[in-house]
Amino acid sequence: MKAPVSKGLPFIGHSIEFKNDALALTNRLREKHGDVLEISILNERVTMFSSPSATKQIFLDPEDNFSSKHGWEFSIGPTFENGLMLRDFDDHKYHRGLLQESFRRDALENYLEIIQPKIDQWIEKIKKEESFDLHENIKQLMFDIAVELFFDEVDETRLVELNKLFTDSIESAISVVRIPLPFTSLRKGLKARKELLEYFESKAKNVDTERKTLFSELVKTNNQEGGLSYFEIAEHMIFLLLAAHDTTTSTLTSSIHYLSTDNQFFNELADEAKKINCTDISELKNGYIGEALFNEAMRKYPPVPFSPRYVVRDTEIDGYELEAGTYVAVGPLVLHNDERYWDEPEKFSPQRFLDPDYQNEAYFPFSGGAHTCLGKFFASYIFKNVVYKLATNFESLESKEDLEINPSPIPHPRADVKIYLN
Ligand code: HEM
Repeated sequence: MKAPVSKGLPFIGHSIEFKNDALALTNRLREKHGDVLEISILNERVTMFSSPSATKQIFLDPEDNFSSKHGWEFSIGPTFENGLMLRDFDDHKYHRGLLQESFRRDALENYLEIIQPKIDQWIEKIKKEESFDLHENIKQLMFDIAVELFFDEVDETRLVELNKLFTDSIESAISVVRIPLPFTSLRKGLKARKELLEYFESKAKNVDTERKTLFSELVKTNNQEGGLSYFEIAEHMIFLLLAAHDTTTSTLTSSIHYLSTDNQFFNELADEAKKINCTDISELKNGYIGEALFNEAMRKYPPVPFSPRYVVRDTEIDGYELEAGTYVAVGPLVLHNDERYWDEPEKFSPQRFLDPDYQNEAYFPFSGGAHTCLGKFFASYIFKNVVYKLATNFESLESKEDLEINPSPIPHPRADVKIYLN
């Protein structure tokens, strides 16, 4: 059978509404047409699936019918070409295998050691102030952490330049204009890509392997036959920067705001934090209150709200025909906010995840199948490190404003809010 079609406006389809409020748009369309719908995004045919079973089938993709590379290349492709999500099938498997080594447990514990001083410095900095701008501060903290883990750099002036390149590359991935005309974000992003590639490629040749950073691990594990070239390492590094930064920033932003509204939960988190050594993975894993907060932040505002795939060959999902050359998209954002699967989905409520055995078939924060997030454990450890340190260094947090989040393309506040420290 064919999916119902909702074309939207000529050429731009639903793109503008999608950018302004993707959840409102997808909910409205789903109510009208059901769980499967063909829409048009910048003149391309995209079949949206909003059921847990179709989402699972598309992520697992046992017959290699769906290309992540061609699904994502439309948005992040130009600036993040050859990153892991921009590879498919055997080629992807080979590269993922080589990257996986840098995410092993002892390597992650070293990374956690490395980032401690940055988080401590941030805590000391905000202690001197009565309040801080939430999103702005978390973004900067995540950049400072990325510097420690990803860049082999100590020169302050160079770091400012790298921050700018990094910001330009991310902004280009989420800009609507997809032609690199002068002064567009995409043009700036491509320039940033070129400079970052040069940086990582030249640094990879003599990276300090004594410092056990993610960058040095990636170089070290590939210093053998069949390993990656310096250029490939550089390509992976800039994709990893993208994958790690805004995702963790978004979960921390919504969670810290929540902590400022629920004192009891804040105190429970502080009690848990006091018992946990933040560089010990076994202890971090047991931090179930921190985990519940992390899970709820990803539920309400999934950092990757939609995942696109390109249909490689004619196939079908749940009886719906899909033509080769078109696209499919699944939306954790839609599923995570669907009242058929969640009680009061509009409420930010970490309590729903407090039972460690709680499962929900409509929960896909890290996608699934071959492209499941490679940094999912590391992300939760970074998250817990930050919220635990906040909980143990302050009596309570307060906010006088609501936090309104635009959930796509990556969740971000419509306006920043201040957090007051007690
Ligand atoms: C809250 C934090 C994070 C969330 C929610 C998240 C989510 C995701 C999702 C949904 C995907 C797959 C998208 C798709 O299949 O279309 C993905 C891929 C990926 N993520 Fe994460 N991510 C997070 C943090 C991180 C961090 C910290 C790192 C690394 C340091 C990382 C590295 C990666 C990589 C390398 C991939 C590509 C995997 C592949 O294609 O095989 N992520 N992430």
